[in-house]
Amino acid sequence: MILNFTDMLYALSYALDAVESEFNGIMEGHGKRVAWISACMGRTAGMSRRELIDLTGLAILHDNAVVEFAYHDPAESAPDRKKYVMFEDWDSFRGHCIRGEKRVRLMPFITNPENVILYHHENADGSGPFGKTAENIPPAAQIIHLADTVDVYLHFGRISEKDREQVERFVLGNRGIMFSPRIVDLFMETFDTAMVKSVEEMGVTRSLRSVVPEGVKDFSPKEIQGITDFFAGIVDDKSSFTRDHSVGVARKAEEMARFYGWSEEKAERFRFAGAFHDIGKLVVNNDILEKPGRLTGDEFLEMQNHASQTYKVLSGIRGCEDITEWAANHHEKLDGNGYPRGLTEQQLSFEDRLMACIDVYQALREKRPYKDGLTHSRTIAVMRDMAARRKLDGGIIRDMDRVFGTQTGREVS
Ligand SMILES: [Fe+2]
Ligand SMILES: [Fe+2]
Ligand SMILES: [Fe+2]
Ligand SMILES: [Fe+2]
Repeated sequence: MILNFTDMLYALSYALDAVESEFNGIMEGHGKRVAWISACMGRTAGMSRRELIDLTGLAILHDNAVVEFAYHDPAESAPDRKKYVMFEDWDSFRGHCIRGEKRVRLMPFITNPENVILYHHENADGSGPFGKTAENIPPAAQIIHLADTVDVYLHFGRISEKDREQVERFVLGNRGIMFSPRIVDLFMETFDTAMVKSVEEMGVTRSLRSVVPEGVKDFSPKEIQGITDFFAGIVDDKSSFTRDHSVGVARKAEEMARFYGWSEEKAERFRFAGAFHDIGKLVVNNDILEKPGRLTGDEFLEMQNHASQTYKVLSGIRGCEDITEWAANHHEKLDGNGYPRGLTEQQLSFEDRLMACIDVYQALREKRPYKDGLTHSRTIAVMRDMAARRKLDGGIIRDMDRVFGTQTGREVS
C-alpha cells in the first residue's frame, strides 16, 4: 500500500499529543516541536535524506509510551488538577523508555534505528535512568533528548526572539552534564533567528515540511501491519477495551473485503481504515471513555466528537482520502441521524455503510466492563432491527451473517 509516512506521522502526532497533554499537561504540539528542533539539528549535522526522515519520525514518537507509566494519585482529586502525575522515579522512566523502544520497532523505519527511544532520557554524564554516558548513547537519542528538554522546560513553541538567550544559556549551562559538548555545539550552530521565526510564522508542520523530505513508499502488508499494531498499542494503553475493538474491526473489514472480491490493494486500505476508525478516541478524555455508567448529555457529545477527530487526524494524510471517509463515517446512519455529519443513505458509499455495520457487529459481540458480549445470532437480530429502522444496511447485514455465521458455528441464542 502506498503511504505518505511523514504525512501520517504529522497527522497522528496531533492525537499522540492529546494523550500526552491529558496525562501530563504538556503543551499541544510537543511531538512536532521536538521533531522540528531535531530535524534542524540533523540537517546541520549533514544527515542523509533517509536519516533525516527517521530522526523526525522517532522524535515525533519519542513519548509513544506515556500513559502506562503515569501514575494515578488519588489525593489529587480536585477538578482543576491533573489526576495523573508523570514519572515519579527512575523505574517508571526506564519502563517508559523500554516500552517505547519495543513498540517503535514495529514501525517501518528506513535505517533500522536502534535504542534511540530507549535512551532518549539519558544524560551525557551518566546521570540518566540507565546511567549511559555520551559515547554509548546514539546521536539521534542525544539530539531528541536535547530537543525534548528544551521544549518541555523552555516552551519552545511560545518563545520569541528575546527568549533565545535564555534557551542558549540553559543549553550551554548543561554542556557536558545533560548534553555532550558535541550535541551542544550542534545545537548552537543550528539555533538561530530563522529557526524561531519559521515556527512563529509558518507553524510547526509547515516548518517541518520545509526541512524534512517526504517519505512516500509502497509499504508491504507486513509493514502496514506494524504501523497498525503500533497505533493499536497506544490506543490500548489509553483505554483497555478499545484496542481489541480496533483490531477486531480491522480484521473483519478485511474479511468482508475478500468476501466482496475487492482487489488486494483495496482490501488493505479498507483494513487500514478499520484499524484507525476510532483513532479519534485518543483525543477524547479517559474519564469519559472509561466511565462505567451511562454518559450524561455533554459527555455523550464529547464521546461523539471522536468521529470528527478521526476525520481530522486521517484527513491530514495525503492520498488517504478514501480511507478517511470510510473510517470517519462509521457512526453515520442511513436515516441521516448519525454523526458527525448526519449524512444520508444517498450520501453514504457502500464502503461507509459496510464499515458502520462492522463497527456495530464488533461492538455488540465484545465483552465490556458494563456488558456481556452477544452471540452471533443475537447480534444479527439486533442489527436487523436497526436496519428496519433505517439505521444500517440490511443487505450488508445478510452478507455479514453469511460470512461470520459460518465461523462461529451453530449457536443457540
Ligand atoms: Fe520521554
Ligand atoms: Fe517529550
Ligand atoms: Fe466509533
Ligand atoms: Fe468503533
